[in-house]
Order: sequence, then C-alpha cells, then structure tokens
Amino acid sequence: MDVAVKAARKPNAGVSAKDTIHARVKTIGIIGAGQMGNGIAHVIALSGYDVALNDLKKENVDRALEVMSKNMGRQISKGMISEEERTAALGRVKYAPDFKSMGDCDLVIEAATEDESLKRRIFGELCPHLKPTAMVASNTSSISITRLAASTDRPEHFIGMHFMNPVPVMELVELIRGIATDDETFAIAKSFVESLDKKTAVSEDFPAFIVNRILLPMINEAVYTLYEGVGTVESIDKAMRLGAHHPMGPLELADFIGLDTCLSVMQVLYEGLADSKYRPCPLLVKYVEAGWLGRKTKRGFYDYRGEKPVPTR
Ligand SMILES: NC(=O)c1ccc[n+]([C@@H]2O[C@H](COP(=O)([O-])OP(=O)(O)OC[C@H]3O[C@@H](n4cnc5c(N)ncnc54)[C@H](O)[C@@H]3O)[C@@H](O)[C@H]2O)c1
Repeated sequence: MDVAVKAARKPNAGVSAKDTIHARVKTIGIIGAGQMGNGIAHVIALSGYDVALNDLKKENVDRALEVMSKNMGRQISKGMISEEERTAALGRVKYAPDFKSMGDCDLVIEAATEDESLKRRIFGELCPHLKPTAMVASNTSSISITRLAASTDRPEHFIGMHFMNPVPVMELVELIRGIATDDETFAIAKSFVESLDKKTAVSEDFPAFIVNRILLPMINEAVYTLYEGVGTVESIDKAMRLGAHHPMGPLELADFIGLDTCLSVMQVLYEGLADSKYRPCPLLVKYVEAGWLGRKTKRGFYDYRGEKPVPTR
C-alpha cells in the first residue's frame, strides 16, 4: 500500500509510459460516488488526472469529497502524501451534474449500484454525449462485460475495470475484455491502471470474473454457516481470522463490501452458471430486504451505530 500511494505522489514524474498515458487520457468521468466511486476518484485524482464525478444527487458527491479528504488525511498522518498533494488532488475533482458535462472525458468509469438494468440505462444515456474516441469502463463486480458493452454505441472501446475495495489500499485491478473490446482499448486501460501504481490481472468474461468467483461463494457459505446455527457471527469471523489467517472474518467482510452487492454477485453467479451451489443464502436475502446492507447503512451482520460493532445475531 505504502509503495503504491507514495509512487502516486508525483503525478507526471517517472517512466515515459506514464507520460504517454497522461497525454492520451486526461479527464476521467466517474458515475456513482459511493464507496467505490469515491475510492476510484481518490486514487485517480492523486495520480494527477482530472475527475468529473457524477451521482444521482449532488449531496452524494459532496459526501464523497468529505470521505476522500478524510482518507487522504489518514495518508498525510502516515507521511504518505503531503497536505499540498491533498489540496491539489481534491481540486481536480469536479461535480458533474449530468452526462452532458462529461463530454470532454477521455475515459468514463461507471461505478453505480450493481444492477444490470440500471447500468444499461446509464450507458444508453451517457454515450450520445461522449466524444467518439472516449473509452467506457465498468467497475461491475460480476455482470457480463459483453452484455454491458452491447448497451453502448462503442463495444470496441468498452472494458471491465474492476477495482478492489478499499481502492486506495488494494493493489489489484481486474481487467475484463468483452467479446468486442479492441486491442488498443485493452492496452490503454492496462497503461492507465499501471499509471495508478496498481497491478492488473486479466480475467475472461465469465460471471463474477476471478476474485469474486472465489470470494463471494466463501462469504455466502459463511452466511449459510450462520443460518444453519453452526456458529455465531463472532465465532465464524474469529474462526476464519485466526484459523485461516484472513485479515477480516467473512461476515465482517460482507458488511464491508455491502450485502446488496454480495447478493447481486451471488445472483449473477447462480443465474449465469446455472449451478445450485451458488444459490444465495436466504438469510443474506433477508438482511438485504430489511435494508441492513452492512457498514454503509450502519447495520448488517454487525450493528455499527455504537462505539464498537455489535453482532446482530
Ligand atoms: N463494494 C465493493 O466491495 C465493491 C468492490 C468492487 C466493485 N464494486 C462494484 O462497484 C459498483 C458500486 O458499488 P459500491 O459499493 O460503490 O456501491 P454504493 O452503494 O456504495 O454506491 C453506488 C452509488 O451509485 C449511485 N447511483 C445509483 N444509480 C445511479 C445513476 N443512475 N447515476 C449515477 N449514480 C447512481 C448511488 O447513488 C450510490 O452513490 C457496483 O457495480 C459494485 O458491484 C463494489
């Protein structure tokens, strides 16, 4: 982490590959200013790119800027960035009230809610406002890149760019080509991600790609373990933290990802691979139906409203 963020301190310094990508890609649009959108904006702005950040409401973008400022503050206190770099990075992030204001973007990264019909509608409305050379990427955790690309006017310039949460900390971005993604788009996307000092792993376009194909069934199984009374929330998380050396227990991690996102990914796996081993646990469905989506709504498998997280069962 430290290396990645430190390296990102000097936006235009360093190897010529970085200069080349900064010449080709200057302004990045981001749609969705939730936990992923703000993390992506954070890293991109610190790397010297201009950001046009869009969400349904301006207050969501204002909140995202507050979160970014706070998270950069943490990096300042660790000596990873300076106060001047925070000010400069936050100054590069502008509110984009609509898709029309993304007309000068060289790349737009969609990071809205994990819902295929919503994403398709966004791409349909976005593309008429973009310049012909603009690339479009989705941060989807699971949905087919080929199908999403088909809702745009530029499937050859469309790619899956799957950042990991929390974006400023995690080293990896998965890149997923749709059936029509051309070589130039892939090469630019790879250079762009590397210019953020992240590593790439290439996945074929199959449901949930690599990371979530493996991670989410593990989380779903942890929810089944709870549902069947094999262990309590605390014992399941403790067992995996201490017994498998996972940095977070699977239920803590589910709350961190967002239970709505976890459920959507399991549904995509279940439907896309037509295998009953991916069926979402009914308890996960119940939490989502209750609106208990994890940390972002302050309640999930833990209740975050007090000083310390308290298990909800
Ligand atoms: N949470 C994770 O750990 C994680 C990790 C990698 C990828 N993702 C993916 O990133 C995407 C966003 O997830 P998140 O965790 O940030 O969710 P989130 O709920 O924190 O944020 C989603 C944001 O999208 C906004 N939004 C919804 N509809 C919109 C529209 N029509 N136009 C503009 N904005 C809109 C919402 O207002 C919200 O601010 C999803 O596709 C998810 O699968 C999530």
